[in-house]
Amino acid sequence: MSYTIFFGRHMARAQKSPRNGVRRPVWAEVSLSALAHNFNAIRKYVNPPEEKRKTRRKVLCIVKGNGYGHGGPEVAKALEEAGSDWFGVTCTDEGIAVREAGVRKPILALTSFVPGEESLLVQHDLTAMIHRCQQLPLLERAAARRGKKRVQFHLKIDTGMNRLGIATSDMECFAREYAKCKHLQLTGIFSHFASSEVFTNTAVGQQTREQERRFYSALDRLCALGIDPGIVHLANSAAIVTRPETWADMVRPGVILYGYHPGYDPMEKREEAEQRLPLKPVMSLRSRVISLRNVPTGAGVGYNATFVAKRPTKIAVLAAGYGDGIHRSLGNRGSVLLRGKLAPIVGIVSMDVTMIDVTDIEDMQIGEVATIYGTDGAHVLPANRVARGIGTVTSDLLCMASQRVPRLYVR
Ligand SMILES: Cc1ncc(COP(=O)(O)O)c(C=O)c1O
Repeated sequence: MSYTIFFGRHMARAQKSPRNGVRRPVWAEVSLSALAHNFNAIRKYVNPPEEKRKTRRKVLCIVKGNGYGHGGPEVAKALEEAGSDWFGVTCTDEGIAVREAGVRKPILALTSFVPGEESLLVQHDLTAMIHRCQQLPLLERAAARRGKKRVQFHLKIDTGMNRLGIATSDMECFAREYAKCKHLQLTGIFSHFASSEVFTNTAVGQQTREQERRFYSALDRLCALGIDPGIVHLANSAAIVTRPETWADMVRPGVILYGYHPGYDPMEKREEAEQRLPLKPVMSLRSRVISLRNVPTGAGVGYNATFVAKRPTKIAVLAAGYGDGIHRSLGNRGSVLLRGKLAPIVGIVSMDVTMIDVTDIEDMQIGEVATIYGTDGAHVLPANRVARGIGTVTSDLLCMASQRVPRLYVR
């Protein structure tokens, strides 16, 4: 049966899907205009006119994790057009994919390189991040082999997250190793905040200030050793929105680019943040109803019959499951948007399909479009609300939109 015959009867049914009718009906619609809106809003926000800076503060757009699930190369291309100064990817493969999409602006490989990977970084003009002094000779050799002008890199300082980065006490060791590298040039120094979204009166709530203090003391030490640090950058999304004192020369927005504020603590901070920097959700994950059935009272639905109908129930089956990005823990907990109404997800979410209770939606038809998160005309089911409902963060949920889900880029 063709899906198209239902189009136009309701707004929710009029959503276009890529290669309609040919493929399994699940897709992620990515709004490039919402993305550009968010980018412009962030760039303006971190460049308040009253600051009277000589040069505009730069923005490094984080497009790692396949652009938080939105398609790394595609969003990087759109963000470059919008004016992004830098990009952040995880590794060589992600960086190469972004370069092959035609992006020319500098790309920082945020998780650095493992031995052997460094020559690929140099070859594809990706900026390495150094987080251990022992990496310098490897990068130096790769740079010398290329034999051209100095290869640029950024230095990551561990200021208390205890994840990646050179210890603040290791500036002398770094300076000694760096002095031996005739083919390298340090063009940036940075650190990453562990809890910039936390404002409680606790040790975690104080952590960002302490990280900043450690960072600037390491930076002073480096300068005292005669090293030019290049671009200084620290701020992730939460710090961008709520801690202007961390903005330095460049900011690194991730989740806010994609339309969502991080989960602030205390929660009341969210409203204030959303007013300060209004954002638009970029991705909407959608699928169509591929089956409808009436289930009698007492019948179980899905694996292990974890949903049992308490009344005669109409069940719609969507052509998307956890293999597509509908998190399994949404089973019997979450809802989807159908014709602008929230319809509960019932039973355990399967790998390829999800069951919805549509008893309260009149005249439901096969082929109708459900929005798992995102926007549907004037209606919104924000991904951060869906993520909160299952105890995770928005970035986790967005990254789950899997490879088999085609992305549909719209302006
Ligand atoms: C080094 C670095 N900077 C910035 C970000 C962006 O974080 P957020 O999504 O909180 O803005 C990340 C993401 O994890 C990161 O690893």
